[in-house]
Amino acid sequence: MLDKNKLSNWKLEKGKIYSDVYNKRNDERPVNGFASLQRATILDNRLYFPSADIRSQAINDGVFFLKIPSWINLEECDSFASNFYRGEHIHKYGKFREITSSYFNDPLLGFHTRSDQIEQFLLEHRFWQKVYPNAITNTGINLIRLSTIILRSILELTDIPIKDWFTATGGCVDSQGTYHLTFNHYRPYFQGIGLSSHKDDGFLTILRSNFPGLEVNINNRWESVSPLEDHFIINFGLSMELLTKNTIQPVNAIMHRVSHQSKDRHTFGHFTSSYCNPEKDAGIYSYSSKQGLFKVCNSRELINFNDEEIYEGTYPPDGENL
Ligand SMILES: [Fe+2]
Repeated sequence: MLDKNKLSNWKLEKGKIYSDVYNKRNDERPVNGFASLQRATILDNRLYFPSADIRSQAINDGVFFLKIPSWINLEECDSFASNFYRGEHIHKYGKFREITSSYFNDPLLGFHTRSDQIEQFLLEHRFWQKVYPNAITNTGINLIRLSTIILRSILELTDIPIKDWFTATGGCVDSQGTYHLTFNHYRPYFQGIGLSSHKDDGFLTILRSNFPGLEVNINNRWESVSPLEDHFIINFGLSMELLTKNTIQPVNAIMHRVSHQSKDRHTFGHFTSSYCNPEKDAGIYSYSSKQGLFKVCNSRELINFNDEEIYEGTYPPDGENL
């Protein structure tokens, strides 16, 4: 978690997002048992936990299970996650491995192989309709609705004035943020870790995973997440941590990684980030009752720097040798 005392001085720097948790980025300690994650549901368009204590625990952990609402159909997204990397001769969705960042004129988007086992197809909301099958676009739009419900329910617990919510979240509170759907395949024939430890950059991630392999760092212990049928895994990210750290309800971003996979593993995720496009950047904000709302960095820079640091590594903190 970010050091509260350093928050007002926090600035985004290349290779230094994880300086305060450097050891967790290069942490070869194995998991120590299974994570006991809290469970939530959506009731009447609100995020509902069985008790205030369970809710506090989930917010402190930075990760929890959410029962998949009946209005979200995952069939086509599951099929896409299992096939996007296979090649057109194997499956109709296999052609997506040929659609790379040059098609979108944006280095972040399209099909990517990474230095870890993961390979991904990542696409921002503004391209969904043009590129994805309709069923996937429709699910993506429902996931935006779901993320808005979760975000609003969390903001209600803070002392951030409602009039500031839109700016504070770069529009996400009214479903006007920037959203990415990413489909992931872990290549068993690759050596090394599935996915290096990191926090997600946005406010929250909705993760669909029926496969073991996700590991979360709670109370400085690595723990395995055993997926629950019919539940999403919700991760809070850096934007949420920065925004809430000095409010009456700080929300922790969860540090997570994926262990080495010896069989094919498929997942997909929906990311909710402060609005940014090539012309406009809503920014990342923090709030305290003393200072009010203040901008801490650019939205797109946080996404780019985080992505780079995940795969290229974190600079050792000052005074430590490489
Ligand atoms: Fe992640």
